Amino acid sequence: PGPLVIAVDGTSGSGKSSTSRGVADRLGLRYLDTGAMFRAMTWWLLREGVDVRDPAAVAAVAERPTIVSGTDPLAPTITVDGLDVSVEIRGDDVNAAVSPVSAVPAVRALLLDLQREVIGAGGIVVEGRDIGSVVWPQAAVKVYLSADPGARAQRRTAEEGGTDVASTQQSLLERDRIDSGRATAPLTMADGAVHIDSTHLTLEQVIDRIVDLAVSTEVR
Ligand code: C5P
Repeated sequence: PGPLVIAVDGTSGSGKSSTSRGVADRLGLRYLDTGAMFRAMTWWLLREGVDVRDPAAVAAVAERPTIVSGTDPLAPTITVDGLDVSVEIRGDDVNAAVSPVSAVPAVRALLLDLQREVIGAGGIVVEGRDIGSVVWPQAAVKVYLSADPGARAQRRTAEEGGTDVASTQQSLLERDRIDSGRATAPLTMADGAVHIDSTHLTLEQVIDRIVDLAVSTEVR
């Protein structure tokens, strides 16, 4: 794959992961889930017993874990110090703590270097909150994906095999609030991003739109 980088940012539960993996698979590109990196960091801090609600305590942690992301869109993996935490990082405890942790500048700086290292040679679809604005503003294709909160909560609840749509929606909106309001690299629509509202689109339709954008960019 060439140097193509596709940045997919957007709100929590807007379908970024399924969409990004589908696009990468269709175009033969690698895939990076930066949210999983923030989740892995959060999981590790919780395990270390760090008070994740205290930004100073999070920033003061001297030792840092080694976080490694697999980039196969069909089988994404994430390890912390060699331990596969793909399942653990989706738990309620991580869901509740990840946005406060991600607002700490020291955490963002650490993961920013790691993200840029992986993106390096290109040929990759990268999903997150600040990819098109901060991590890789030179990305050839930038997408801002959104959907109505009700639709997002319904999809996410079904994905998790749960039933409590209202509490899922509350958790998504709380993360959006913190992610959009933080001082460092907040969730925002990047310059040059194409906004896709997926509320009334199927997954395949969203993937098609992004693949079309990528193909027309390559041709140009
Ligand atoms: O994408 P996902 O919902 O798994 O991301 C979990 C959390 O990680 C987000 O709510 C946000 O706080 C943080 N995050 C971030 N910047 C990114 C990706 C994720 O701050 N690029």
